[in-house]
Amino acid sequence: MDLGITGKTALVGGASKGLGYGCALALVREGANVVIVARGADALESARQRLLGERPAGGEGFVKAVAADITTPQGRDAVFAAHRDYDIVVTNAGGPPPGDFRDWDRQAWLSAVEANMLTPIELIKATVDGMAERGFGRIVNITSSAVKAPIDILGLSNGARSGLTGFVAGVARSGIAARGVTINNLLPGAFATGRLTSSLAASAAKAGQDVDTLRAAREAAIPARRFGNAEEFGAICAFLCSVQAAYVTGQNVLADGGAYPGTF
Ligand SMILES: NC(=O)c1ccc[n+]([C@@H]2O[C@H](COP(=O)([O-])OP(=O)(O)OC[C@H]3O[C@@H](n4cnc5c(N)ncnc54)[C@H](OP(=O)(O)O)[C@@H]3O)[C@@H](O)[C@H]2O)c1
Repeated sequence: MDLGITGKTALVGGASKGLGYGCALALVREGANVVIVARGADALESARQRLLGERPAGGEGFVKAVAADITTPQGRDAVFAAHRDYDIVVTNAGGPPPGDFRDWDRQAWLSAVEANMLTPIELIKATVDGMAERGFGRIVNITSSAVKAPIDILGLSNGARSGLTGFVAGVARSGIAARGVTINNLLPGAFATGRLTSSLAASAAKAGQDVDTLRAAREAAIPARRFGNAEEFGAICAFLCSVQAAYVTGQNVLADGGAYPGTF
């Protein structure tokens, strides 16, 4: 299926690795121009080179890399200096650390809210009106299945991302909805990325358990009996960015291999 986004320009945060890279890959394969962002310049440039090789045959699309911290105003200035008018924005950055809420001070909460709530809101604010004027826009926020099924040790994520989810529910249904702009949240369950690998290793070490045993137990608890991969996550993201998905807005789309047990 042609997703109708050839020549559109996408911003993808946190895109040198993991789920952000998966989204950038799917968009590049659809013929979109892509601006990818991450802090580490070497991994980002390596991702850019791989993405250039993924453009459709004859594709002239560009792939720009902006090495910046997207959670800072300076980082976002760099993103908009690289390109001003984005048609597609995929908001993403690292998630907050796990822990016990008794140990989190005000600064820990402010950092989580800054990265996982206010940064996507700033990116939405900077782009939606231009999208509406041009009659096309797609925003996808990578959040977490923890928004629907909170995980106790991820309290910073549960809280900050729920704030974003509430904001998006309102703004997606505002005047922009009639002007070709959709905003949706894409909620990953367990996906085999660097983040998951390092958190599994940390949990195994803490429990004094073998990491392969722990991985097998976690996978067995998912109805699909496996972790997801970044490429399949990216494909869902690209669909939400397609012309065909014009009537899908304000939704929380869960990709978790069936792990969430509820009917709705
Ligand atoms: N994987 C899962 O199973 C899962 C499940 C639920 C939710 N999530 C959430 O999904 C998001 C992506 O996770 P992932 O598994 O893809 O993580 P990952 O493999 O660790 O990749 C994170 C990417 O984001 C970049 N990044 C981190 N902080 C950034 C910042 N401040 N500014 C710009 N780029 C930044 C990283 O590069 P640099 O470090 O070089 O900046 C890297 O490219 C996270 O918010 C995570 O909490 C993931």
